[in-house]
Amino acid sequence: MADLQTQTLSHTPKGLDQAAQHLRDGGLVAFPTETVYGLGADACNDTAVARIYEAKGRPSFNPLIVHLADLEAVKALVDWNDMAERVARAYWPGPLTLVLPLREGAPVSKLVTAGLNTLAVRLPAAGVARDLLQRFGGPVAAPSANRSGRISPTRAAHVMDSLDGRIEAVLDGGSCQVGLESTILGLAGKPTLLRPGGVTLAQLSETLGTRVAERHDAETISAPGQLSSHYAPRAHVRLNAVDWEEGEARLGFGDVDCDLNLSPTEDLTEAAANLFEFLHQLDSGDAPVIAVSPIPHLGLGVAINDRLSRAAAER
Ligand code: TXA
Ligand code: MG
Repeated sequence: MADLQTQTLSHTPKGLDQAAQHLRDGGLVAFPTETVYGLGADACNDTAVARIYEAKGRPSFNPLIVHLADLEAVKALVDWNDMAERVARAYWPGPLTLVLPLREGAPVSKLVTAGLNTLAVRLPAAGVARDLLQRFGGPVAAPSANRSGRISPTRAAHVMDSLDGRIEAVLDGGSCQVGLESTILGLAGKPTLLRPGGVTLAQLSETLGTRVAERHDAETISAPGQLSSHYAPRAHVRLNAVDWEEGEARLGFGDVDCDLNLSPTEDLTEAAANLFEFLHQLDSGDAPVIAVSPIPHLGLGVAINDRLSRAAAER
């Protein structure tokens, strides 16, 4: 199904009204958050949520994150607890998703949780996302706005590249500031990092005053965004490249000669913000291989390396 006329809407009262109306009508609207662009639908509307899976070509067992405008709205959907309170105070609104027990009677579509008894919730910080959520006034389910398995979008043009004709609209809010998906913290049992992202493991452990466990692939719960081949460009990806081979597209980091440099000054925040944009750019050329400089496994570097190793995984 690729026969819709996808509208590009602007961050104006009129654009926001149209976007919110599409959501009320069961339509799909891509919108920018501070992490990446999300593909939004009314989280309480089964048909609308089913269309997300269809548009993305995503396996239906993969649960979705619900985006909300304020804490009261979050508490209506999940069983809140002390740890959630602490991290929410420190990092919300922002690039952190919490997985909590689904509240009994919460009106969210079963397709959002993919049948789990937990729900992933997030309060985004970006102004466009907040304005849209406020206008719409209900929970919005939104995975990243790309075809399943592809690189996440950090600009409206990336969304159009993969979803033009499959969704009602994209709300254009420019580039995403963080550029990497949110950190996912499981708080339904002992605190567990389910996906590294914009907020680091060390930050979370410090805020909670306890060591946050890392999920190991052996004990995979249903967090299939963690399927190892994910974020896949068309080109093959060669990691930890300390020199370049003939014909490769060269994605550098630090003081190196390359085609695009994630951060000449080795600033990991800058590198995260550039990562998906630069992968998109290099992938649109002819090079069969994208070679990437080593990135230190520190702070945001952990999340960057996580995305890069998925981009490089066999498929
Ligand atoms: O930054 C982000 O998180 C972006 C923006 C749009 O908010 N969204 C995003 O969504 O990255 P998505 O669908 O690409 O990734 C959601 C991840 C998946 O790995 C999914 O399996 C996991 O969240 N997830 C969702 N609900 C879960 C649950 N109840 N328990 C465990 N993992 C869950
Ligand atoms: Mg994704």
